[in-house]
Amino acid sequence: MARLTKVALVALGSVTGVSAWGSLGHATVAYVAQNYVTSETASWAQGVLNDTSSSYLASIASWADSYRATTAGKWSSSFHYIDAEDNPPTTCNVDYQRDCGSSGCSVSAIANYTQRVGDSRLSNDHKAEALKFLVHFLGDITQPLHDEAYETGGNGIAVTYKGYSDNLHSDWDTYMPESLIGGSSLADAQSWAKTLISEIDSGSYKSQAASWIKGDTISDPITTSTRWASDANAFVCTVVMPDGAAALQTGDLYPTYYNSAIDTIELQIAKGGYRLGHWLNLIYTAKIAKRDVEAFVKETRDAALPDLSGRDLLPKPRALSRAKLARAAMEGSCCSSEKRDHEH
Ligand SMILES: *[C@@H]1O[C@H](CO)[C@@H](O)[C@H](O)[C@H]1NC(C)=O
Ligand SMILES: *[C@@H]1O[C@H](CO)[C@@H](O)[C@H](O)[C@H]1NC(C)=O
Ligand SMILES: [Zn+2]
Repeated sequence: MARLTKVALVALGSVTGVSAWGSLGHATVAYVAQNYVTSETASWAQGVLNDTSSSYLASIASWADSYRATTAGKWSSSFHYIDAEDNPPTTCNVDYQRDCGSSGCSVSAIANYTQRVGDSRLSNDHKAEALKFLVHFLGDITQPLHDEAYETGGNGIAVTYKGYSDNLHSDWDTYMPESLIGGSSLADAQSWAKTLISEIDSGSYKSQAASWIKGDTISDPITTSTRWASDANAFVCTVVMPDGAAALQTGDLYPTYYNSAIDTIELQIAKGGYRLGHWLNLIYTAKIAKRDVEAFVKETRDAALPDLSGRDLLPKPRALSRAKLARAAMEGSCCSSEKRDHEH
């Protein structure tokens, strides 16, 4: 059953070509996170997901990609990215009010599902939906091209990789990580996660891991996740296309470009996992752990409970920019351009 589901996910990922870290990257982020959650957070998450297996987060890490590819789940497509309308490689930056589309983006979605996952007014099904989205979006947001509007996050940059014609976005999502690891199974993800965890605990990431979560606060998830998006977006100027997009279209990206990018890919996957573990711990502590009953009763009576539609989290409405129109066109025609994508 688990095997079948994964095969289906891999198939969907290669068909849509717009999915974010492929299933390998998302499962690795989830396994890293599983290592950093407290035992209380783990039990809570396992309860919400009704899964006490050792892959409880990794198994659902790509659910959001398979869901968005269905007719019923299309509404959630814009939650997988924030289209920063900056100007790489000259300037890179993210501005929530400028860049988040009117139907939402990764930043508003992370805020919305952070609010929802711990809200006792919701059914367990809704909490599980929120948790599955969070596990996925905290991965997406560390992929630099998920924080970039240029050529619709690089989906419009045609390149050659290992002899295949594809686009820059899918190489970052899927093909470069798979070149490094040599597969995309849950076992591959688990072994990659193990390597990254040891780099965090005692290796090359040890001195910087604290900075990855510095200032993260669930009382201000918009500011927090905008910072995550900005952090990843900066790599668009320095690593993804330091000499512009045309420079990537003159020959095969393997091995020279791959070699220039792979350290950043590993760093971002490690970062996503470490942040996710910490974020879930923060949610658990602030919203789930049994709080002082008197304080809880008072809070419930006094506080204006959040609007669970998350409407108030969205940026102010404004006219569609050229980049937002391009994105809308791509979402609408996602399934005819898919056929250009290759499998390897
Ligand atoms: C939880 O999972 C078990 C088996 O894995 C299943 O039998 C049970 O119905 C599930 N419970 C809910 C509430 O979905
Ligand atoms: C918040 O989540 C709910 C449930 O998935 C969804 O209906 C709503 O559109 C979301 N709101 C935002 C702003 O993302
Ligand atoms: Zn995604």
